[in-house]
Amino acid sequence: MSEKVTVRTLRQMKTRHERIVAITAYDYPSAALADSAGVDVVLVGDSVGNTVLGYDTTLPVRLEEIEHHLRAVRRGLKRALLVADMPFLTYGVSVSESVQNAGRLMQAGAEAVKVEGATEPVLEAIRAMVGIGIPVMAHLGLTPQSIHQFGGYRVQGRGEQARALLQSAQAVQSAGAFAVVLEVIPASLAQQITETLEIPTIGIGAGVHCDGEIQVWHDLLGLNPQTFKHAKRYANLHEVIQGALRAYAREVRERKFPTEEHSFE
Ligand code: KIV
Repeated sequence: MSEKVTVRTLRQMKTRHERIVAITAYDYPSAALADSAGVDVVLVGDSVGNTVLGYDTTLPVRLEEIEHHLRAVRRGLKRALLVADMPFLTYGVSVSESVQNAGRLMQAGAEAVKVEGATEPVLEAIRAMVGIGIPVMAHLGLTPQSIHQFGGYRVQGRGEQARALLQSAQAVQSAGAFAVVLEVIPASLAQQITETLEIPTIGIGAGVHCDGEIQVWHDLLGLNPQTFKHAKRYANLHEVIQGALRAYAREVRERKFPTEEHSFE
């Protein structure tokens, strides 16, 4: 449990059929909690846009915003592998910009970057990044940066799409990705991809057969009122925090806090 997790560790875990545990984090205390709980991979996801920054989608998230959160998360981690999301338009447009942007994230403390999709420009970017020593995690299925193309948050890879998704998974592996996130796809397809690939698959809404699982911090801990089929709430912190804040407001108004106990002579 205590050895530093690297991209090599994840490959070994797949071979040994050990499940990979991954979660998103966006700040120092969350990162430290995830690390001490023994989580293997921490992702500074562009979901920071929805969960922390108040955007409707991940599309407005900028590289500078990921860098800012990444630096805080870096300071909280000792063991877990730190992966940073490359935001929309920071990769897959020009190869040299993709590599430079990935390099900025590595210089801010990431040990790998994550990109969505498997179009030819993205595959080219993966090859170039891997070529200069930047490990790349791929992300297929319901990739939120393409939400407008999908026309909403819906299951991907059903019916005729299944073959294309399997081919995309093989393509990102051939391009050099060290792992692939599979988001909201049928469990049977995720199983087929997991059995076909040599690199680990990390599911979110992709059933029980992936090599590991990733969840969003806020969904897992119930920090937002919304619930999702692909997520399980292990706590209901939204209610806990709201209750605490209401009690604080009430006690201040009723002059019950602060008391002498909290005062200085
Ligand atoms: O941004 C994110 O949080 C992600 C995970 C859902 C995999 O990409």
